[in-house]
Amino acid sequence: MPATVIVGLQWGDEGKGKTTDFLAEQTAMVVRYQGGDNAGHTVVRGDEVFKLRLTPSGVLYPHMTSVIGNGVVVNPLTLIDEFDMLTARGIDVARVRVSRSAHVIMPYHVALDRANEVRLGGAKVGTTGRGIGPAYGDRAWRIGLRMEDLLDRQVLRERIGRALLDKNLLLEAMGVDGFELETLVELAIGWGERLREHLDDTTWLVQGALARGDHVLFEGAQGTLLDLDHGSYPYVTSSNPVAGGACTGGGIGPLQVDEVIGVMKAYSTRVGSGPYPTELLDDIGAGIAERGREFGTVTGRPRRVGWFDAVPLRYAVAVNSVSSIMLDKLDHLSGIETIRGIVPLDTDDRRTETWPSSGAALSRATPVYEEFEGWPEPLHAIRSLADLPAAARRYVSAIEEYARVPIVLVSVGPERTQTIERVWPSMRRRLGVPA
Ligand code: GDP
Ligand code: IMO
Ligand code: MG
Repeated sequence: MPATVIVGLQWGDEGKGKTTDFLAEQTAMVVRYQGGDNAGHTVVRGDEVFKLRLTPSGVLYPHMTSVIGNGVVVNPLTLIDEFDMLTARGIDVARVRVSRSAHVIMPYHVALDRANEVRLGGAKVGTTGRGIGPAYGDRAWRIGLRMEDLLDRQVLRERIGRALLDKNLLLEAMGVDGFELETLVELAIGWGERLREHLDDTTWLVQGALARGDHVLFEGAQGTLLDLDHGSYPYVTSSNPVAGGACTGGGIGPLQVDEVIGVMKAYSTRVGSGPYPTELLDDIGAGIAERGREFGTVTGRPRRVGWFDAVPLRYAVAVNSVSSIMLDKLDHLSGIETIRGIVPLDTDDRRTETWPSSGAALSRATPVYEEFEGWPEPLHAIRSLADLPAAARRYVSAIEEYARVPIVLVSVGPERTQTIERVWPSMRRRLGVPA
């Protein structure tokens, strides 16, 4: 069963887009399984940069079937814009399939998300303002719209009409204009007409591909520490980015997953609010942020920057059953004299190597640092582990030891080719290459 899940091990933006694009060359299908247009996945191909919000990062390959699974919340406007952008740049989107049962982000979800953040003031989550929470909320409350509903005017009128009764009341109470039923119905009918050809029963598409023996990649959005269950609630997103989300949101069972590739940065970043024990508020952090161009792909907000943290890494390896790691952005640490990384945390006067499940406990935690010697050399042109400076090799090995799973890929630049491949037994087995 050659299904591989690609999952973020930190707070998102770890380089999942690059990882997916790199691996997709050898696969038939890439499936997005959760999240929505809060994601921004960057793929760099030569001089070209693609920033993808909803379309899976394998779409640049002409042989690819790209699937937006049932677990994704789709803003049809963003998807149509993205299709237009890709088409204008010569990428064929005819093979992008969208689950008929994926939920729709409606304009009132976006308005509610933004108004709620304003109302929360200093306690805001720092969402991307894309309506993600309200759309997943309606899904759970069983009052959401699904992509297939966009094809039926009668259903649209009934369901939007019912939703607006509450939504308009809420919006008006928060001082924001409500929405008019017929305007929304016409908008939704237009989306349905445009996207009709892409709608599909994606579960059977994925199952069919796996039954044929095709290799399928499941591309996570966000990251483990933003997971609705596993992150520092309430400073999380509203879906399950963890590998288990690929089952519920991609249409497969747990035994169909044969590899989980965790993606992490050689340091860490976080966008939005919430506890962040290794956050750097000094010049070193500002330097990494500048070199790493750490600005949100979707919102353009500056990303918070911090050292690598082994405690949540072990947690992420455990809850995702990570089998191997892609380590990104090692190049941005060049020139730092002493790199720090956290091993245990001091929480409530107790030293622990266990990531606390309570966000409140986490916000009281103090990091205990270990120091690593840095290296001055730039790494962009390096293509083999042996050619890395000795200090960089030691740093990679230390992360690998904390993670207790192999780092199979090390990335030293945004471009596809700026990737160091290490021994990778399972992938080589699949490709028929001797390990
Ligand atoms: P994603 O959301 O996990 O797909 O990550 P983003 O695309 O939001 O952010 C990662 C950023 O880092 C993008 O601009 C990538 O092009 C870039 N990137 C990925 N890997 C590397 C790397 O190893 N080195 C450098 N310099 N940039 C990288
Ligand atoms: P990718 O897929 C980084 C963060 C937001 C906020 C929290 C909740 O590119 O890694 P939401 O809009 O989801 O309700 O916001 O989650 N967030 C991300 N941070 N990368 C992302 O996606 C994110 N998607 C959401 O900043 O803290
Ligand atoms: Mg991103």
